[in-house]
Amino acid sequence: VAVAAEAFDGTARGYLDTATVGLGPRRAFDALAAHGEAWRTGRLDAAACDADVARSRAAAAALLGVTPDAIAVGSHFSPFAALVAGSLRPGDAVLVPEGEFTSLIFPFLVAERRGVTVTAVPFERLLEAIGGRTRLVALSAVQSRDGAALDLDALAMAADHHGADVLLDVTQCAGALPIDATRFAYVAASAYKWLLCPRGTAFLAVRPHALERLTPHAANWYANDDPWDAIYGLPLRLAAAARRLDVSPAWPCWAGAAPALELLVACGVDAIAEHDLRLAARLRAGLGLPPVAGPIVSVRAGGAAARLAAAGVRASARAGGVRLAFHLYNNDHDVDRALEALDGLEVSR
Ligand SMILES: Cc1ncc(COP(=O)(O)O)c(C=O)c1O
Repeated sequence: VAVAAEAFDGTARGYLDTATVGLGPRRAFDALAAHGEAWRTGRLDAAACDADVARSRAAAAALLGVTPDAIAVGSHFSPFAALVAGSLRPGDAVLVPEGEFTSLIFPFLVAERRGVTVTAVPFERLLEAIGGRTRLVALSAVQSRDGAALDLDALAMAADHHGADVLLDVTQCAGALPIDATRFAYVAASAYKWLLCPRGTAFLAVRPHALERLTPHAANWYANDDPWDAIYGLPLRLAAAARRLDVSPAWPCWAGAAPALELLVACGVDAIAEHDLRLAARLRAGLGLPPVAGPIVSVRAGGAAARLAAAGVRASARAGGVRLAFHLYNNDHDVDRALEALDGLEVSR
């Protein structure tokens, strides 16, 4: 992790805002710049851009514990949630946490117009709320608003026990925590945070039984095994694998995504998790907060945001607290800086 941290620019000191947007590694920026240069000078090779997507798909598969044929590429999270919501039937019951990020829940609230029902329960009561009527549980593994993290093993067991599918949003932890996407029907992430990609890149890992249920509502030329053979005319030609759900790629985004994801794979997500969780735990312990198995620390204390900003710490205000996020480019100095800035404040538990 220490070696990988060299891949980022030093101006990152005090940057504790990966929960809003991750830092682009230098090599990803260079690839993006080279792509821009080729675009500017009329040397862009559209077919060669496919290699960036293929590399990104393979790296995302490695980070999510699946094979590349289980991965669909997209631009943002919500279109994937919309595909899952579109597969539900009238009367299907969906369970979500209260205060969940809206890109995940709005598509299901729209599906309520077709007779789907959505129930929100407190995050900490989600597992016990799963029952025989639950068709789908849709949640973020790590909550955007305050960093609360769920035990994914317990989630998989509870959902399997009741025959419910899970749509797991890993936007706030893929790349920072090991994820075994084989345990859930759908696992998806927007990639511009912990996966360090340019915004405009997203992944869905889908299990074979669940893939059959999804209608590829946004079918397009790229969702074919050989996209360049599917650019004109009938009949409908879609890949058999998850690629059938691909959105045609925004090329510059993927030029930057491939090297960023490969950096994470080379570093190893277990090593990154150990690092990120250790730093977050150190901050929590220093503030007298209870432990949480995630890389985001939410601090509720009057004046905290102003103190952190004055100390040069970049964090984000969310849900009445300040959110500090630790990733591979952070180190103990960042924790010390935040602790010094918050010293003496009364922090609510
Ligand atoms: C949990 C979660 N999901 C999804 C997103 C982003 O959604 P989208 O890709 O639709 O912009 C965010 C952004 O903050 C998030 O925190």
